[in-house]
Amino acid sequence: MKLQGNTILITGGTSGIGRGLAEAFHKLGNKVIIAGRRQNLLDEVAKANPGIEGLQLDLENTSGITKFAETVKQKYPELNVLINNAGVAKFENWTDGDLNMDEIVSTIDTNITSVIRLTAALLPVLSSKKNATIMATTSGLAFVPLTKAPTYSATKAFLHSWLQSVRFQLEDKVEVLELPPPYVATELGGQAQAQDPRAMPLNEYVEEVISILQNSDIKEGEILVERVRELRMAERTNQYEKTFATLNTMFN
Ligand SMILES: NC(=O)c1ccc[n+]([C@@H]2O[C@H](COP(=O)([O-])OP(=O)(O)OC[C@H]3O[C@@H](n4cnc5c(N)ncnc54)[C@H](OP(=O)(O)O)[C@@H]3O)[C@@H](O)[C@H]2O)c1
Repeated sequence: MKLQGNTILITGGTSGIGRGLAEAFHKLGNKVIIAGRRQNLLDEVAKANPGIEGLQLDLENTSGITKFAETVKQKYPELNVLINNAGVAKFENWTDGDLNMDEIVSTIDTNITSVIRLTAALLPVLSSKKNATIMATTSGLAFVPLTKAPTYSATKAFLHSWLQSVRFQLEDKVEVLELPPPYVATELGGQAQAQDPRAMPLNEYVEEVISILQNSDIKEGEILVERVRELRMAERTNQYEKTFATLNTMFN
C-alpha cells in the first residue's frame, strides 16, 4: 500500500486503533474519511484534524450500510482504500446458563457480516482504481482464542480465513491486508483496558504499523507488530498448547 495520496475510509474511526490510524494517515498526506455511530466523536476527530471528514454509520443496520456505501461512492468516487476496523468484544460465560444471545449476534453482525456487506458494496469503486487496498482489523485472538471471549475470538478467526480467500481471488486487482493487533490500550474491553500496563500503548502500536507499511515488510498480507508474533506463530512453531495456556491463565 502506498502511504500518500490515497482516499481512505476507516470504520471505527471514532476511537482507539481506528482513530489512531486515521490521524496517522491524515498526517502522511491522505484524504481520510472516518465512520462510526458516535456523532460527537466524529465531530471531535474532524475538528482536531482539519481535512478528516466523518460519516455516521451503524454497522448493525443492514439497509444503513447500503445507503452509506451509496453516499461514499457519490461523495468520494476517488476512494481507493477501505479499512474495516470497527469491532466489538464481549465476554461470555457458557457455564452459568445466562448467555446474552442478542450480544452474541451483535458481535457476529458487527465483526463479520458488516465487513462482508461493506466490502462487497464498495468493491466496484475500489477495484476500478490502480492502487486499491482492502484491510480488515482481526486480532491475535484469531490465532489463539481467549476462552472468555469465544464468539469474539471466532469472529476474528473467520475474518482471517475470509481474507485469505478474497486476497487470492483479487490478486493483481486489489491488495488485501490483515491487521491483527495484539492487546492494545483502548477502551474495546472497557475503560480498564486503556489503563492496563499489560496492553501495548496505542501510539506505539500505530507507529509500528505505519513503519511496517513504510518498509513494505508485509508477508502473506499480514501486518504483524512484534507483540502479536507469539500468538500468530504459536501453531507454526509448535507452541500452541503453551501459548493457549499462558494467554488464558494471564487473562482468567
Ligand atoms: N484493543 C485491542 O486490544 C485489540 C486487539 C485486537 C483487535 N482489536 C480490534 O481493533 C478494532 C478497533 O478496536 P479498538 O481496540 O480501537 O476499540 P474501540 O476504541 O472500542 O473501537 C471500536 C470502534 O468500532 C466502532 N464500532 C463498534 N460498533 C459499531 C457499529 N455497530 N457501527 C459502527 N461502528 C462501530 C466504534 O465506533 P462507535 O462506537 O462510534 O460506533 C469504535 O470506533 C476492533 O476490530 C477490535 O476487535 C483490538
